[in-house]
Formats: sequence, C-alpha cells, structure tokens
Amino acid sequence: MSTVTGELTVASDRKHLLALADHLRRREGVMVRVFDASGNLVLDASDDTEPCADEHECKEFLEETCASCKEKDSACCRTCPKGRGVRVLPIKRSSVYFGSLVACSTKDNQELSDRSTGAVLDAMLDILAEKSSKEHEIDSLATELALRYEEIGILYEIDEKIPLRSYTSHVVEYVAEKAFSVINCSCLAWIANGSSVSSIGGGDCQIFWSPNESASPSTMLRLEAKQLAWALHDRCIKSGDVAAVASLDHDPELSVFASELNSALCLPLQVESDFYGSLVAFKARGDQFTSYELKLMKALARKSAFVMRDSRLYEDLDSLFFNLIKLLVNTIENKDEYTKGHSQRVRTFTVRLGELMGLGKDDTETLNLSGLLHDIGKQGIPDAVLKKEGKLTEEERALINTHPIRGVNLIKHIKQFEKCLPHIRHHHERIDGNGYPDGLKGEQIPLGARIIAVADTYDALTSDRCYRPRFTSHKAFDIIEEVRGTQLDADIAKLLLDNREEFARYSQSALASPLGTDRTRII
Ligand SMILES: [Fe+2]
Repeated sequence: MSTVTGELTVASDRKHLLALADHLRRREGVMVRVFDASGNLVLDASDDTEPCADEHECKEFLEETCASCKEKDSACCRTCPKGRGVRVLPIKRSSVYFGSLVACSTKDNQELSDRSTGAVLDAMLDILAEKSSKEHEIDSLATELALRYEEIGILYEIDEKIPLRSYTSHVVEYVAEKAFSVINCSCLAWIANGSSVSSIGGGDCQIFWSPNESASPSTMLRLEAKQLAWALHDRCIKSGDVAAVASLDHDPELSVFASELNSALCLPLQVESDFYGSLVAFKARGDQFTSYELKLMKALARKSAFVMRDSRLYEDLDSLFFNLIKLLVNTIENKDEYTKGHSQRVRTFTVRLGELMGLGKDDTETLNLSGLLHDIGKQGIPDAVLKKEGKLTEEERALINTHPIRGVNLIKHIKQFEKCLPHIRHHHERIDGNGYPDGLKGEQIPLGARIIAVADTYDALTSDRCYRPRFTSHKAFDIIEEVRGTQLDADIAKLLLDNREEFARYSQSALASPLGTDRTRII
C-alpha cells in the first residue's frame, strides 16, 4: 500500500489533457475525471449533457472506488449503480501516490472498451504522473535543502555559542535553552554521571521545563519526568548508545512510570570512553520525536559532551591552581600561631561581601584570590618584626608597611594574578586618605581593596594578635561602626554590620578550626 502522497500537477497540461479527454468522449463515449490524492476533483471532462441521474450516488461510488484503487495500488474496473463501466487508474510514480484518473461510459448499462480507450488513458496517466513526479521531486529537494540549511545553521550556532571555557553549570543551562529552541519538547533532564538514582528529589538530575508551556508542571509530572530520566539514563549506561522510546506506554520497563509523557530520547554525553552523563528529552501525549529532531539532539549532545570534558579539565586545573596558592599561603602563615588561617578567613569574608554586593562571578573569583593573597608580601619580613609582642619602632612599622608593595612585586609576573594586584597594593589605604602605600582617598581606592580592608579589619579584631587578645564580636562590630567612613568604606562596612550574625557565626567556627575547608561558605 502506498502511504506517501504528493501534490497532483494539472494546470500546465490542462489543455492537452482536456483535448485527449474530448477525443475519448466524442469517439468512444467515455468521460474522464481526475481526482487528487485527497479526493478533490481537479479536472472534469465529463459531458454535461449526459450526467448521471443521481450525482450524490455517483460521487459516493467514485470516492469508494478511488479509495479502493489507492488501497490496492492497482487499476480497478467496476460497474456503477447505473450499469456504466468505470475504470479507475492510480496516478503514481516511484511509490508516491498523486491521485486517480477515472474513466466511465456516458451511457447507462454500457461497458468500457479497454482496447479502444486504453492507449489514450495511458497517455493521460503518463502526463499526469510524470509532471507531478517532477514537481514532487523539486518540492522534496527544496524541503530537504531548507531543512539542511536550518540544521547547519543550528549546528553552527551550537558550536559557536557554547563558550569553550564554561563552568559545568553554565553548559547545562545553555544546552537546555538551545534544545528548547531547536526541538519541540515538554521537558529536558540532565543527569551527571556518577549520580545515584537514590538522589531522586535532588542530586545531579536537573529538569528544565519548556518555556512554551503556560502552566507550571504538577508535582506528579515532575516526579514522572525524574523517574523516567533515571531509568533512561541507566539504559544509556548499559547500552552505551541512544535510547529512543516512541511510546513510553508500550515500553515494558518504563510504562509503570509513564502518565503524561509520551515519548523520550536519551542521549549519552560521551567523548571516547569518558561518559559525562545523559541528556533526556520528553514529549507529551500525542507527540513523537522526528528523525530530524533526533539528529539535532545527537549533535547537541555530542557538542555538550566535548564542552563538558573541557569544563571538567578547566575546573580541575582551577582547583589545582587554587589549592597550590592556598598551600603556599598556609605554609607562610603557619609559621605564626597568631596569623594562622587569617588569609583564609579574610578570603571568605571578602567573597561573601562581594556576593552581598551583587558582584558577578568573575569579580567574585578575583576577590577569592585577592583575599587569599592580600598579605603574601609579609613573606620576607623578619619574624622578629612580625611576631614582636611589644610596640613597634618607627623603622619596624615602616618595614611592615611595605608588605602591600612587596606582595605585588612577588606575584606581578603571574598572569593569573593580574586583576588581584590593585587589591593587594591598596588593601591598607583608608577612606580618609591616611592609609598606605599611596594615601588614596574614597573611591580612588579600588573596590576590591575596600572590600578586603573591611574583611581584614573584622578578622584582625576578632582573632588573637601577639600584641593583644581578640575582641568579642560585639566589640569588633562597635569598632567597625566607629571607623565607618574614616578608615573603612561606609557602605561596605554597613553591609557587614547588617549581616553581623552570619559573619560572627563563621568567624567563631573558623577560629575553632583555623585551616578551615576550601571555599567554605559563611552561611
Ligand atoms: Fe595586610
């Protein structure tokens, strides 16, 4: 049975076809009609002077005969209720069905003569099939070209717009956004490899819902998507290949979870033997994925896997770099019981203040390093001065005051620290201009340096020093209130005071465990 239909082309050959039909009517008493694949009459060469007695009955008979001819994929010879001979020929080429050519006798109770009409009908059939087939081929090529063009455009965009150096979370968000723009699906799930199915309700399975859905998904639908995503992810791991399910209802393993979702595609995020997780797309009831959508999703998953691999490498390098810096700073600070953990705490306070100020990820990352490195210049200043319990002489004070510039000189050749240099140089400047090394005032002092100054002062006040014991948090906050606007930036200091409970809580727990943990959040 032919299932592919095409558009019947009649217009350009109408004159020629009508001439052949006219020949048949006059010479053989045969009238010809042409119906398209949907059953519409597109060419009528019947003789109006000899119509069938019952047009409705005739129409029903022809519709049924054409449908039968299409179903059988062959010519049919019938006799209509009036006893007229009828011949129906399917118009088709290369398994594409375009319609039917119907020839019938103009006289009641009269058979059609194959011998006399066959050659002309075959000629008409050839004209119709040939022209329609060519038009269909051109249309198909045009459609295919348009699809290819769109596909290339989308693949190019995927390739170009996923940033090469992205954090994993950014990649996930971008891929979800891109997937919704190229395919029509209800929701997407992203499962990171190494996750456990026990983390349903949390963990590393992120579900994204189509922005085209007006209503927010119900709790049941969320659970359904998550359960199906985990099951498909497991299937992908076992097979190492795409899992495509046209009907979840008919899948023996998945039907138990399926209710509102109809079909699914699960694509492994894989580069060679490294498996980073799965991307799962779902369609709702009545909808299925096309082969075109499968192709796009495969391309998206392939690109995502490469970016994911690069992101993991960058994150590993970042982590290695940061841990080496931390090791260096800890090694220097651990020589002095009083300053042990100081830079780590200042770093944490600095980052938190940056977050509270709404700074972006890049600025916060810079603050993270600057906070940790702010006192690196104390390396090289004799312990006898740094650890002196009594009052410092003028020379000793001047020597200590060189540590911001010493710090800059120590690390200025390392590209990754470039943005930290102004923070390190100016973290002892004062808002009133009485600080060092440059006596900058107010907003002349870089923002990062003003933030570090607040964090540094708070930690200095709440930790023991060789020359005095620590102040209580309460007292430390009072002092910070006093120096707001003179020593410290008024707004940044206020931010710390407004969040005093959070800072005091972290300060106490960090002092109890001076080395702390990496990237510990205050909250
Ligand atoms: Fe300092």
